[in-house]
Amino acid sequence: MKVLVVGSGGREHAICYKLNQSADVEKIYAIPGNPGIAQLATCVAGSVEDIDAIVSFVKENAIDLTVVGPEVPLCLGLVDAIEDAGYLAFGPKKAAAALEGSKAFSKDFMVRHGIKTAKYVEVDTIEEAKAALAGFCYPVVIKADGLAAGKGVIICEDEKMANEALEDLMVTKTLSDAGDKVVIEEFLKGFECSLLCFVDNDTILPMVSVKDHKQIGEGNTGLNTGGMGTVSPNPFLPAAIEARFEQEILDKFMAGIKADNLDYRGIVFIGLMIDGEEINVLEFNVRFGDPETQSILLRLESDLAQVMKACATNTLATQKLVWSDKTAVTLVLSAPGYPGNYPKGSKISNLDQCECVVFHAGTKEVDGDIVTNGGRVLNICALGDDLEDARAKVYKDAQVIHFDGMYYRKDIGLI
Ligand code: AMP
Ligand code: GLY
Repeated sequence: MKVLVVGSGGREHAICYKLNQSADVEKIYAIPGNPGIAQLATCVAGSVEDIDAIVSFVKENAIDLTVVGPEVPLCLGLVDAIEDAGYLAFGPKKAAAALEGSKAFSKDFMVRHGIKTAKYVEVDTIEEAKAALAGFCYPVVIKADGLAAGKGVIICEDEKMANEALEDLMVTKTLSDAGDKVVIEEFLKGFECSLLCFVDNDTILPMVSVKDHKQIGEGNTGLNTGGMGTVSPNPFLPAAIEARFEQEILDKFMAGIKADNLDYRGIVFIGLMIDGEEINVLEFNVRFGDPETQSILLRLESDLAQVMKACATNTLATQKLVWSDKTAVTLVLSAPGYPGNYPKGSKISNLDQCECVVFHAGTKEVDGDIVTNGGRVLNICALGDDLEDARAKVYKDAQVIHFDGMYYRKDIGLI
């Protein structure tokens, strides 16, 4: 099988790493890939948003399966375009990808299909929005409807802050047309949990549990990031809660995509808030999480290419997922200043001296050197007999790798 992976982050490097272990995969291409991916695949320059160019590449190279990493091309209809050209793709069609691409669409889906979620209203004008605030207590959560690369959710402590957030989104248009529509939502307390599943139009197979560490600072403090590290299994998820996911969320999700005739073959990544016995869905993402994927795929013992092909051909019911019972930890090494402004181009040393698997997230090759090229730069990943063992391995390699201002959290898996 010739496989094309679309994307350039640590998530896509982990996907290529796992696909490369498959006996069925003879060749991997990536658009655009990164220097780590280049060790496993042929990287082809291009934008993940250039649908026409990707479809042309698929046709010219007779790609057997295209795996789409990020949400933007899914929401732009890349899978629709590849399938219209007669080729197989892993990922939901455009209409289904709106479950991530539009918060209002996704909230409406949850309510119509009985999936528990925070109380909300959807508004289209600043006047409607300000009037709707009266129906909420503080803190209140304000969400831009459209994709906003993680910047679209604002938790507002009081009415002044809420009014400012609404003005920014709907009048100043700080997030452009992502803020044309806004969702105002009740604040939920509790702890967050990510639930990733392989899905096709008939079957949903949940993956092992995983915990992301979203904030930049130790002790879960400071600004939210794309994720500073993950641990699988999630050490904080009670088995009694996990046992309820199938009936209360997954069965309803499947009934919903069937009833709404959404063509959904790929990944659904469900963000949950758990408070005592209460389980609420915060959001749906229509792709693998980053850096959740890195920890999860290290534990996957099944053949990823076969599972992905089964999703794409709507035969997922024939697959069984086999998992290692070890603990996986992923540690993100980030650039100084991230998630704010950060420098690029710092030389990275000692990558070849690491014992763990190291995925590239934001790197570039310049004159034979690997240099930093993003906020999240590298992901050190390891399997261990237990959490302590996996943590010891990744933190040992964190002492080996060096670039100027390199930062990482020391408490991944502990809090
Ligand atoms: P979302 O993109 O909807 O998952 O929101 C991003 C993040 O904002 C979530 O991971 C939560 O940390 C936070 N968040 C979103 N909605 C709520 C809510 N209703 N109550 C509390 N926190 C929320
Ligand atoms: N780690 C969170 C995400 O991928 O959305």
